[in-house]
Amino acid sequence: MTYEIKPLSGGLGVEVIGLDLAVSIDTETAEEINRAFVENVVLVFRGQDITVHQFLEAAKILGDPMEQYLSQYKVPECPIVSYVSNQVKTDTGAPKLLGQAWHTDQSFNPTPPKATMLHGVVLPKQGGNTCFANMRQAYEGLSETLKARIDTLQAVHAYRESREGLSAEDRRAEEDSEDGVTHPVVRTLEEIGAKAIYINPLRIKRFVGLSADESTSLLEELTEHATRDRYVYCHPWQKGDIVIWDNRQSMHRVLHNYDLSEKRLMHRIVLEGSAPH
Ligand code: OGA
Ligand code: MN
Repeated sequence: MTYEIKPLSGGLGVEVIGLDLAVSIDTETAEEINRAFVENVVLVFRGQDITVHQFLEAAKILGDPMEQYLSQYKVPECPIVSYVSNQVKTDTGAPKLLGQAWHTDQSFNPTPPKATMLHGVVLPKQGGNTCFANMRQAYEGLSETLKARIDTLQAVHAYRESREGLSAEDRRAEEDSEDGVTHPVVRTLEEIGAKAIYINPLRIKRFVGLSADESTSLLEELTEHATRDRYVYCHPWQKGDIVIWDNRQSMHRVLHNYDLSEKRLMHRIVLEGSAPH
């Protein structure tokens, strides 16, 4: 198969054009895709009319699919794949719209997933974009003072601080999780030796050695810096898109800025990662 890799507009991401993920690819192509993934942080494949099992096979090009955190969202015919749907309701019947704040996936785990992959199954006519921020470029763009301040800093990540509004299932997931795990605020990507800011505004409780107020203001300062337009790409979804992001060097959020009576459904795979260092 001949294919090309084209930059997307914005601070990160490339589109891989001409690869059909229903067909197995050779080792050399797999290596090129892995390289493009680490260098560009986000990969987009459009027009992938594939089954959930083919999606799972394709995921193995980039890593090892792992069990997902919230067990109620498994796809019944292929339970290692989960779904992300705007049709899920909270206990009070309101739509449960996840992922609206900037975050990186499962940073409350000792070994957070390397990557997350979504396959667009049903999309609203417009809107519902997923935005990504390039945390490697954001690190490079920090002032020397701020770099020095965070270079050896650690942060405590925990599943959720407030239990308000959680469903029974989510509360159970929280009870199962640890009190918090500590990760470096600057992590190194082993494949390329580059550094990235590793923060999660949704999950960081505090920075080690800083007061609650200092932690809040530093987290805000880093988030504001890292999510400037120049570091961000927002993906306008089409049915059949597969988008893969590197959780080690990006944050993401979804914009639920569409007509909520329209359905939005993705299939989701997460890939095993290692402890940040
Ligand atoms: C996720 C997530 C965003 C989206 O699956 O981890 O944040 O666009 N999804 O649905
Ligand atoms: Mn997410």
